[in-house]
Amino acid sequence: MKVDVLLGLQWGDEGKGKVVDVLTPRYDVITRFQGGPNAGHTLEFNNIKHVLHTIPSGIFRDDKINIIGNGVVIDPCIFKKEIDSLLKLGFDLKKTLFISKKAHLILPTHRLLDAASEAAKGDAKIGSTLKGIGPAYRDKIGRDGLRVGDILSGFMEKYKSRVKQHTDLLTKYYRFDYESALTDYETAWFEGIETIKQFQLIDSEIFINNLIESGKTVIAEGAQGTMLDIDFGSYPFVTSSNTITAGACTGLGIAPNKIGKVYGIFKAYCTRVGSGPFPTELIEETGQKLRDIGHEYGSTTGRPRRCGWLDLVALKYAIMIDGVTELIMMKADVLDDFDEIKVCTKYKINGELTDEFPYELDGQVEPIYEILPGWKTPLTGVTDVSGMPDNLIRYIHFIEAKMKVPVRIVSVGPDRSQTIER
Ligand code: GDP
Ligand code: IMO
Ligand code: MG
Repeated sequence: MKVDVLLGLQWGDEGKGKVVDVLTPRYDVITRFQGGPNAGHTLEFNNIKHVLHTIPSGIFRDDKINIIGNGVVIDPCIFKKEIDSLLKLGFDLKKTLFISKKAHLILPTHRLLDAASEAAKGDAKIGSTLKGIGPAYRDKIGRDGLRVGDILSGFMEKYKSRVKQHTDLLTKYYRFDYESALTDYETAWFEGIETIKQFQLIDSEIFINNLIESGKTVIAEGAQGTMLDIDFGSYPFVTSSNTITAGACTGLGIAPNKIGKVYGIFKAYCTRVGSGPFPTELIEETGQKLRDIGHEYGSTTGRPRRCGWLDLVALKYAIMIDGVTELIMMKADVLDDFDEIKVCTKYKINGELTDEFPYELDGQVEPIYEILPGWKTPLTGVTDVSGMPDNLIRYIHFIEAKMKVPVRIVSVGPDRSQTIER
């Protein structure tokens, strides 16, 4: 069997959580392969709305195996909160959730280093989620990280030596006042470590490959989005992991020839939270209209998301990097009330038109739009293709013709049921 991958193609928050939940009945195993609690994946069903940060979005369906892979970074404190709130909803994950021993831990001092680094950058800050993601991955790559497997023996000694390095940095380099924040967070963090110990800590790469060998179907759930990838995103305004299809290989320990379908998710428009370039951003009232109708506020931080028109130059680049085989268009209903919908099909850079994604998305990039008519029809009640208005079909055909990949699913509302397959 092959592993199918589902990824965001924009700057995150495309609706990955919702779609993974919709697709989960077709799979035996659901895995996260990168990122950490910077992610906020929202699921809605049976009047329940739930946001997941570290835990795969397959956990609301029965009899599924959920795995947090080696490429993920885990904050035990946030993990415990997630587990506790799921318990309150009646979901006990002790038998269904497995954690890689090779996943790295986000230490309390990583959070403080994230805050100190952002403060030191001033106006040039990344706009990180302040969850300690960058410092945790920096320690992983710098070979100074602590892994989940480390909590099983001699943990305190290793923990103290890492924390000493971090507090030295906070004091001597950043001159950052950390004492009370550290003590407050550490207590809850160690409670989280005890929670993690109650779960099945495994060599997930062997476990997953054995599952594939035995015929089980696997879906890998991306976090963030391709434009936030550490190598191919709008660097340095990116996250610290490979959010792309290749990240599923390193983040799970599966070979490239085991990858099957690649589902690429995009919003019918575009959003970005945090700093960094965004060519199609609308800073006037149309942007506010998208934000209001789409409830575009961060699932993790509550920050207002920046909104703009769909950018097909960036989307085409993401499809290329990810090897997308099927597209999924989210939040089409948010455009229900627009007379005209603009789509960026080219960039003008130094007077030249191009549809190739440039090295840098700086102020020199001017988006060139084509205008399509809106459908002016409420989509939230539409349940199959026969109910799709003509101008929505036209919009989809326009995207498919430019991207050369079929749009297989159109999402018309946040609920599990508001999903049209084509
Ligand atoms: P993720 O990080 O990619 O999982 O996406 P988020 O959960 O951060 O953000 C997507 C938001 O859009 C959530 O609030 C979802 O409930 C909501 N959502 C998902 N699909 C749709 C849709 O088709 N229409 C509308 N109106 N909302 C949607
Ligand atoms: P999901 O999985 C949207 C953004 C942050 C910031 C940059 C770096 O819900 O789509 P980090 O905390 O990773 O160091 O922040 O990346 N960012 C996201 N934006 N959705 C996410 O995840 C994000 N995770 C990180 O806003 O600009
Ligand atoms: Mg999100």
